[in-house]
Amino acid sequence: MSLRTLETLGDLSGKTVLVRCDFNVPLADGVITDDGRIRASLATLKRVLNAGAAIVAISHLGRPDGAPEAQYSLAPVAARLSELIDAPVSFARDTVGPDATERRGSLKPGEILVLENLRFDPRETSSVESERAEFAGLLTAGVDAFVSDGFGVVHRKQASVFDAARLVPSAAGLLVAAETDVLRRLTTDTQRPYTVVLGGSKVSDKLGVIEHLLPRVDRLLIGGGMVFTFLKALGHNIGSSLCELDRLDTVTQYLHTAAELGVDIVLPTDIVVASRFGADADTVVTAMDEMEETPFGSSGLGLDIGPETAEKFGSLIRSSKTVFWNGPMGVFEMDKFAAGTRAIADALTKVDGLGVVGGGDSAAAVRALGFEESAFGHISTGGGASLEFLEGKSLPGLEVLGW
Ligand code: 3PG
Repeated sequence: MSLRTLETLGDLSGKTVLVRCDFNVPLADGVITDDGRIRASLATLKRVLNAGAAIVAISHLGRPDGAPEAQYSLAPVAARLSELIDAPVSFARDTVGPDATERRGSLKPGEILVLENLRFDPRETSSVESERAEFAGLLTAGVDAFVSDGFGVVHRKQASVFDAARLVPSAAGLLVAAETDVLRRLTTDTQRPYTVVLGGSKVSDKLGVIEHLLPRVDRLLIGGGMVFTFLKALGHNIGSSLCELDRLDTVTQYLHTAAELGVDIVLPTDIVVASRFGADADTVVTAMDEMEETPFGSSGLGLDIGPETAEKFGSLIRSSKTVFWNGPMGVFEMDKFAAGTRAIADALTKVDGLGVVGGGDSAAAVRALGFEESAFGHISTGGGASLEFLEGKSLPGLEVLGW
């Protein structure tokens, strides 16, 4: 159970290496709003270039429907990459079409060619193995080795993640190796107390991870939109806050299981309630069991954990030896609802042990709130991938590399 490393690929001098990155970055009007994933790919790209190879870099962006869509073009990513790396970077306007073929033909050692979005071709995500294999064959044509470094996508059985790795000598890039190493430390020989903090809008996205982690952790702190399903299940009035009514039984079961196992599921005691969803909404902080008494009545909605909860969560985090955090505590993009997420991020920087921020959204949140990446034990680039890893699921993109 160990990933094949870059060293297993031997001498790369004069070779062409296909590198699968996760350049799935957030964009607003064609402008990259968080380039963390591009920067996270630099170590591997530099290592391969310094070994004397040429790189064909591939990635998806968003979820286009198997056909080109201008808003999902990787052109802005290629432009940003060329600013971040000291090497010539060119961009092919297609993925396996004439432009890519011509540019691949003239690629030289020390240069990077970024191909257009893999998901513009339906074969990339096809569930039919032969279709994926055909696409993987085109991607790997003429390359000497394949490096898998898109950690955020290793849970997907897709042509560029799984099938390509079977066609040519393949290995994990430095990012995939580092991410896997940290996540393994969250699952084996974990230092106690072990606290997991979950947020984000939907409890249904976190069911697997809650179920799997309950017997393994000491405390589970829950915030974000998903907490209202728990609070509703406990009989609280939650106004117009988010709630997944079809999950009430499931979360009730989790609360029972936690009690049986002696695991603390810690829920907010106070909430920031807004008159409506908006940056300029009126707000009030209220105790959890008094939500219906706010001036907004039943139309009030909880958009952040309150200060008392933030303080409590913060102190539980600071007193832990291992912490994994996935999902914001509130609508951090709006100043009025950012304090809870900021408090969790701040506490995580003070963990005397391993503090891991898991996932694209949480990672983007800590950067948007102005935290230095180096202040954290580890910031994972993979949201779904890190959750599935912690759920104990088999990840096709790792298994194919020897995991
Ligand atoms: C992510 O953003 O989590 C990864 O890039 C994977 O994207 P996907 O969920 O669209 O496969």
